[in-house]
Amino acid sequence: MNMYCRTTADAESSLWWQRAVIYENHLPSFRDGNGDGIGDLVGLTMSLDYLSDALGVDAVWVGPFYRSPLLDQGYDISDHCDVEPVFGTMADFDRLIVEAHLRSIRVIVDFVPNHTSDQHPWFVESRSSRSNAHRDWYVWRDPAVGGGPPNNWTSEAGGSVWELDDLTGQYYLHSHLIEQPDLNWRNAEVRGAMLDVLRFWLDRGADGVRIDVAHMLMKDPEFRDNPVREIPEVNEYDLQHADFATQHHINDRGHRDVFDVLREIRRVVDCYPDRICIGEIEGMPWADWAKYFGEQLDVLHMPFAFRLIETPWQAGALADEVDAMLDAAPADAWAVLALGNHDRPRLASRLGQAQARVAAIMLLTLPGTPTLLYGDELGLEDQPVPAERQRDRFARMVGGVSRDPTRTPMPWTSGRNGGFSEADERLLWLPISKRLTEVAVSTQIEDDSSSLALYRRVLALRRRSPALTSGAYRRLVPVTPNEDVWVYERGVGEERKVVALNFGQRWQRTEVITGGEVVVSTVLGREGRAVAERLELAPNEAVIVNTGAAHHRTESK
Ligand code: GLC
Ligand code: CA
Repeated sequence: MNMYCRTTADAESSLWWQRAVIYENHLPSFRDGNGDGIGDLVGLTMSLDYLSDALGVDAVWVGPFYRSPLLDQGYDISDHCDVEPVFGTMADFDRLIVEAHLRSIRVIVDFVPNHTSDQHPWFVESRSSRSNAHRDWYVWRDPAVGGGPPNNWTSEAGGSVWELDDLTGQYYLHSHLIEQPDLNWRNAEVRGAMLDVLRFWLDRGADGVRIDVAHMLMKDPEFRDNPVREIPEVNEYDLQHADFATQHHINDRGHRDVFDVLREIRRVVDCYPDRICIGEIEGMPWADWAKYFGEQLDVLHMPFAFRLIETPWQAGALADEVDAMLDAAPADAWAVLALGNHDRPRLASRLGQAQARVAAIMLLTLPGTPTLLYGDELGLEDQPVPAERQRDRFARMVGGVSRDPTRTPMPWTSGRNGGFSEADERLLWLPISKRLTEVAVSTQIEDDSSSLALYRRVLALRRRSPALTSGAYRRLVPVTPNEDVWVYERGVGEERKVVALNFGQRWQRTEVITGGEVVVSTVLGREGRAVAERLELAPNEAVIVNTGAAHHRTESK
């Protein structure tokens, strides 16, 4: 037993997470179980049959449900080891675990180590005096010589990361909202306390954690300025404040010591059988991303490959990124993939409905563990939220950006409030989609041409296809950035599946696929058909073809 373990565990891992599809349900927006207008743990538990049977995913990532003033959708925690009453009770969490496990669904919870709410008792203590025992649990600095913040770092939420606290005349660090002070992970007591939080939820049955901003835990110990960008570089794929784009964020995050603390987290997780840690790390060069696995694969089980989200939607560019990702990954490493999440524009808004379907096939057939954002299976789009209904405090900063349009409620039916809640419409966490009839689960489940039907078919196929979950990946056609088609194979043993994606608006003929059977297509009426001489792809069409080994030519790469 190592020093991190409070229980002994069988080191044997079933690697369930390499075969799984994860579903991010975003709790306040998913389903309201008690009629107050806000999604909760009971509502999620009520939805498990949808997830396991109707849709067919393997794990849910719940989103934070801990005690919180809810200024950042629960990522501002005031008590890590209790449930926020708006979201339910500890008994509701226990029941979620039992009911999910009955359906073979794993439950991944958020672990938010970088910061707390300013209402957390640790911070209340810390700010009370310079000599308080918790002072060093957060990051306090004197003003710069001559006054003002200690350095130039800018926050993702906008403005400086430093806030002056008049009581003691020092600044504290908050990488996000002013109300989200950063913990000091260089303090051993902080590490100990946060590892206990981790144990608390693993003991209660969580199957894994998604570590919030895992790359940010360690900063430059000398707090040097970030280099300024001459021309600000706004990340169009992420919803961040423009202030953030004005510098190279090399000193406020990603310090090499971060791997040591993530390794400590991993050691705790490894004390429990079959649990995983997934890390949210920002898009970065693949060589840097690869370090988050650790050379011995002893850091994160799966760091998010966000660079894929941040690649232009072009066949060649995406195929090149996947090649680069696979080349950079250490042997036996396994990525977690996503094309969107609760911080970014919705997939269907970014790509349009037709290409969102191509994206579905791509995400669910690339090597790695796919993560779906709730509602993406319905082609849900961003919906403008009027200022008076906004929840995201990031939007209230001067020039702030709201992530609320991405986070509107899950539309279950075309009836009142989309079946999301019994509450009066004005009480809903966020307004429901204006295109209810079209997007609702109840509408789409009856319609073979719907987005939901497509997701269901691909997910069902994945479940019975070792090639699609664990098969080797090979790119089959050389594609240059101007071409619209990307073809790849996943294969294991005798099983071969070829995936062909048309990113363009014209018919395309693929030269590599010369036989086999189309098992899934974004175009209705094509499935079950044999591939004749050459596979022709309709505009915006993506297909999965079952090929015998003889049915395609030798790959060119
Ligand atoms: C992560 C979360 C985001 C949150 C931020 C601060 O990026 O995904 O929603 O605002 O961390 O906790
Ligand atoms: Ca509720």
